[in-house]
Amino acid sequence: MPTLSIFGAQWGDEGKGKIIDLLAREADYVVRYQGGANAGHTVVVDGQKFVLRLVPSGILHAGKVNVIGNGVAVDPLALFQELDELAQRGIAVDPSRLRVSAGAHVIFDHHRRIDALSERWRGAGRIGTTGRGIGPCYADKAARTGLRVADLLEPARLRVRLTAALTEKNALIEAVHHEAPFDLAESLTRYGKVAERLAPFVGDTGAEVRAAWKRGKSILFEGAQGAMLDIDHGTYPYVTSSSTGTDGIGTGAGFPATRVERVLGVTKAYCTRVGEGPFPSEDTGKDGETIREVGNEFGSVTGRPRRCGWLDLVALRYALDLNGATGLVLTNLDVLSVFDEIPVCVAYDVPGQRGPLSEYPAHLPDLAPVRPRFERRPGWRSDIGGARRFAELPKAARDYVQWVEERIGIPIELVSVGPEREAVVPRTA
Ligand code: GDP
Ligand code: IMO
Ligand code: MG
Repeated sequence: MPTLSIFGAQWGDEGKGKIIDLLAREADYVVRYQGGANAGHTVVVDGQKFVLRLVPSGILHAGKVNVIGNGVAVDPLALFQELDELAQRGIAVDPSRLRVSAGAHVIFDHHRRIDALSERWRGAGRIGTTGRGIGPCYADKAARTGLRVADLLEPARLRVRLTAALTEKNALIEAVHHEAPFDLAESLTRYGKVAERLAPFVGDTGAEVRAAWKRGKSILFEGAQGAMLDIDHGTYPYVTSSSTGTDGIGTGAGFPATRVERVLGVTKAYCTRVGEGPFPSEDTGKDGETIREVGNEFGSVTGRPRRCGWLDLVALRYALDLNGATGLVLTNLDVLSVFDEIPVCVAYDVPGQRGPLSEYPAHLPDLAPVRPRFERRPGWRSDIGGARRFAELPKAARDYVQWVEERIGIPIELVSVGPEREAVVPRTA
């Protein structure tokens, strides 16, 4: 496995964390390249649940290098909290296990505050962000007013750049949002201390990863969020602010995306979304509620109930195509065991257009008016959580997997049947 990209093929929370932890066994480096502490990647090992936010999902294995690449929006306070939580649970993370890019942009207190204030300002048009300061931080990056980790480590530079940034943000906070400004002196002291703790982890991670790869080390790139939340290709404006798929690796890890050999999308056997925005196959009725209960579909970061619905093959094919997926991992198949029949969205009806669309209509300014067409597949109505070989799955479950595989045109390499690390079924014929 020299280079592997694992990305979310829906609206996030597909079970990437579990799959990345599993496949990290074969990797030397696990590299995050975008997003920030808006991610919540759940890994369950020996009955212990870990929710990783900024720290890559390879951290539970000894002897791996976990990298936070330059494209990640790093909130150092969130990172320290996560490191403290891991330490309390016996996982001591030293700089040989975790590297942070000097080029990554820093999320400050003012980014989190502006995230919340902008959401309030948007009113009914709010995005439903995670409130982690992601959008404001990436906005500053693009506006060239952001601070990078390297700026944080250099006291004189921190003073100049944070003074400039905070003066502008305070003007916005006071004049537009009518709230109290941040105290500059206090912020400088606070982030000066942060720099001391962060410094040992910081380096040129792009160079480190490229050099490791040239030495024959295997590299796993960990996507956060999902293809349908991608800033360019997702359901804009109801998206996150980064490139969530394989494309993001070049810019966000400093590693040539053209050298990524294996690309695995991760999808649930149904579909969920948190936050606002279109979700054609959403089920707002009883079945959606059942999925939420059985699948425990509550946000791993914010605890918000996730919106639930059925697998959407139109959106999934689009996500896999966009990212050049060579294979798919199908998770949470066990959750569907409670249904007699399983609807799957196979096409969209678009008002004003003749005939259903089986290709994702990325040209539409808004996906909300499309209506899903469902095909109903037979359920299996038995507990499949203990299956470890494909042949152990009931026939209807195997048929469901095969049927999906035929419709996406790439192999389903793994099927996940429970939250634990071992609850996985390799896909053999
Ligand atoms: P991520 O953000 O893509 O890493 O996904 P999350 O961790 O936010 O959400 C996935 C949820 O599903 C977590 O609670 C996982 O523990 C859980 N999970 C992962 N795979 C499976 C599975 O195959 N079956 C079930 N029932 N739960 C799973
Ligand atoms: P993982 O990596 C699911 C959603 C938010 C909101 C939108 C923008 O665990 O799959 P942001 O805070 O990024 O500006 O919010 O994106 N969102 C996620 N939804 N899983 C995630 O991450 C998400 N990260 C952001 O709910 O709709
Ligand atoms: Mg998640």
